[in-house]
Amino acid sequence: MSSQKNLSPQQLSANTALALSIPIGIAFYIIHPVWWIALLFTVLIFGCSYSIIHYTIKKFIYRKIKLIYKLIYQTKASKREEFYYKNFLPQKTIEEVRDDVEKWAIQRKDEIELLQQNETYRKEFLQNLSHELKTPIFAIQGYVDTLLNGALENPAVNIKFLQSTSRNIDRLVNLVDDLDEISRLESGQQQLNCQQFIIQDLLKEVYESLAINAEQKSIRCVLKKGCEQPLSVFADKEKIRQVFINLVENAIKYGKENGTIESSFYKIDGKRVLIEISDDGAGISEEHLPRIFERFYRTDLARSRKAGGSGLGLSICKHIIEAHGEAMHVRSSIDVGTTFGFTLPKNKD
Ligand SMILES: Nc1ncnc2c1ncn2[C@@H]1O[C@H](COP(=O)(O)OP(=O)(O)OP(=O)(O)O)[C@@H](O)[C@H]1O
Ligand SMILES: [Mg+2]
Repeated sequence: MSSQKNLSPQQLSANTALALSIPIGIAFYIIHPVWWIALLFTVLIFGCSYSIIHYTIKKFIYRKIKLIYKLIYQTKASKREEFYYKNFLPQKTIEEVRDDVEKWAIQRKDEIELLQQNETYRKEFLQNLSHELKTPIFAIQGYVDTLLNGALENPAVNIKFLQSTSRNIDRLVNLVDDLDEISRLESGQQQLNCQQFIIQDLLKEVYESLAINAEQKSIRCVLKKGCEQPLSVFADKEKIRQVFINLVENAIKYGKENGTIESSFYKIDGKRVLIEISDDGAGISEEHLPRIFERFYRTDLARSRKAGGSGLGLSICKHIIEAHGEAMHVRSSIDVGTTFGFTLPKNKD
């Protein structure tokens, strides 16, 4: 490393003092050829110049270092602190200072990277949001314009156009509700209303509420064999219902015709319950898997489908589970299927 080659203030002072005292000593010897007087004179010159140079360098370097310290740490020491640092604390060596500055530089680099990441995230979020808003707004604009331009009088299309307008308004309302939910969950404002309930019963209710969607694709919704024994959890029932609805809805949307959705429930480590919902649908490829919990993230398959939503569902699910202090995970293989899982506490702590 280059620092290895750097001279310490002592070495630098000694070298300069030598470069000064030797020629002066030689010159003295030429004028006064008594070797011991010349040697004594040389040593004296060396000693004096070494002290002066060393003192000056240290003063100069420490003044600069103090300035750098003040700049990087943005501190202002009080008079008493300064006196203490100067006279009682051992002064830092140049190497220690270099280590400090390196540490500071790494820390700043990390901070900058985080800020850049946040900036990219913010830009992506705004782009996605405006895209999601544009689609229904333009559709509504189109229908309303067509109606105003005469279609209102045409009984063959007027009701159809109004129904389409209403569907797009619903889509906007859902989007705004989802965004509202995410921002409340992210800001930690969302209060959980926890209670003890049987998790399988809640899932059965969700299966029933989505039975029509499942029937349309002839998908069977079942509980895994051996998981029927009722398990009680302590959680916010309505929020967990929301998680189940999105997971089962996804399993139906992205599942295959005549497929099966299977849920399993296990007691783990005596304190928690593991819940898993599996489908035998198209699966999610490895490149998409780490990102599907991000807001607005959808795989190519979901983007190209009419059935695809706005990509906020899983992000909300993850937030809800994390608000319970638990974690959510996913496993998937292309053409085999996908399993989403999460844990919930068995009892109030
Ligand atoms: N069971 C699944 N099988 C295959 N892909 C899935 C499955 N669940 C989710 N995905 C993928 O993950 C993406 C994100 O899911 P998410 O629930 O967040 O959004 P969405 O269902 O598209 O829209 P929203 O839930 O907001 O209506 C989906 O668009 C889809 O690409
Ligand atoms: Mg969804």
